[in-house]
Amino acid sequence: MTSPRLYSGMQPSADSLQIGNYIGALLQWRTLQRDYDAYFSVVDLHALTQPHDAAELREKTRRTAAQYIAAGIEPESSTLYVQSHVRAHAELAWILNTITGFGEAGRMTQFKDKSSRYGTDATSVGLFAYPVLMAADILLYRTNVVPVGDDQRQHIELTRDLAERFNSRYGETFVVPEAITQKETARIYDLQNPTSKMSKSAESHAGVLWLLDEPSATRKKIMRAVTDDEGSVRFDREAKPGVSNLLTIYSALSGRPVPAIEDEFAGSGYGDFKKSLAEVVLAEFEPVRSRALELLDDPAELDRILSVNAAKADAVADATLSDVYDRVGL
Ligand code: ADP
Ligand code: NA
Repeated sequence: MTSPRLYSGMQPSADSLQIGNYIGALLQWRTLQRDYDAYFSVVDLHALTQPHDAAELREKTRRTAAQYIAAGIEPESSTLYVQSHVRAHAELAWILNTITGFGEAGRMTQFKDKSSRYGTDATSVGLFAYPVLMAADILLYRTNVVPVGDDQRQHIELTRDLAERFNSRYGETFVVPEAITQKETARIYDLQNPTSKMSKSAESHAGVLWLLDEPSATRKKIMRAVTDDEGSVRFDREAKPGVSNLLTIYSALSGRPVPAIEDEFAGSGYGDFKKSLAEVVLAEFEPVRSRALELLDDPAELDRILSVNAAKADAVADATLSDVYDRVGL
């Protein structure tokens, strides 16, 4: 029996991934890949919707792929590849564009947010069509499930609508995928601004924990994390967002429930708690960081892995695209 198929990806938008990407995505992918025929992509075509430098994008793409592998995504049993290496993504996106309503695409809240920040002139048609490319990514592999954050739910709804629309217009072609949403407990906030989500594209990096940072930098950021005046290690997302966020990280990486950690640090100050958290984070990061740096030091090996995996993805994607061409009359 073949396993159901899973698809997920991340934009190569920084030199390093941050701890939210690790806890909210990579840790889950690592587990999910055992039960699914999993496709993990570095979505560099999506990254073109932001201003970028060509050489930097290429480098960030390789670094992101290296961090997937270092974090335990297995390039032998899963398919771990770079989106632009498989040409079918852009080709299917075009065809899906032709069945997407202008108003339908315009209702995507992520587009509305970003375009209102950039202004009309700096907003590209590519950004507008971003969710259609995402639909192509997913549908090309006849994906059954897509693990996503809450912010991507609407894009999965669009993907489902497009799959159903295509199927009813042209005949059964696509699998209609389901979203798996991450647990709320997996959401990590900025250490300096603990009510906003930690992000690799945050303007200030002071509160971002990077997977590839020097251990001393990571330790410093944890010791300087914003807390409160109460002095007790207690989870309360509303009243104590800083401490709650640190508890979330501690729990996610140690596998211990939050109440057990609260008990352990009852009566100790934030300093001791933070020191212990730094040890937990560094113990998790160190092997990932050194494996990623090792892979980046061996470009030929990383290229080999990416090219073998692109070929695996290409074979599947190409078969779907051929069916699509056939059905629409190309
Ligand atoms: P970023 O905001 O760091 O650029 P992306 O939007 O590229 O992250 O998301 C990549 C993956 O990482 C997604 O699966 C997303 O849900 C997850 N992710 C990103 N930031 C966080 C966070 N702060 N907490 C938990 N998961 C996160
Ligand atoms: Na698998």
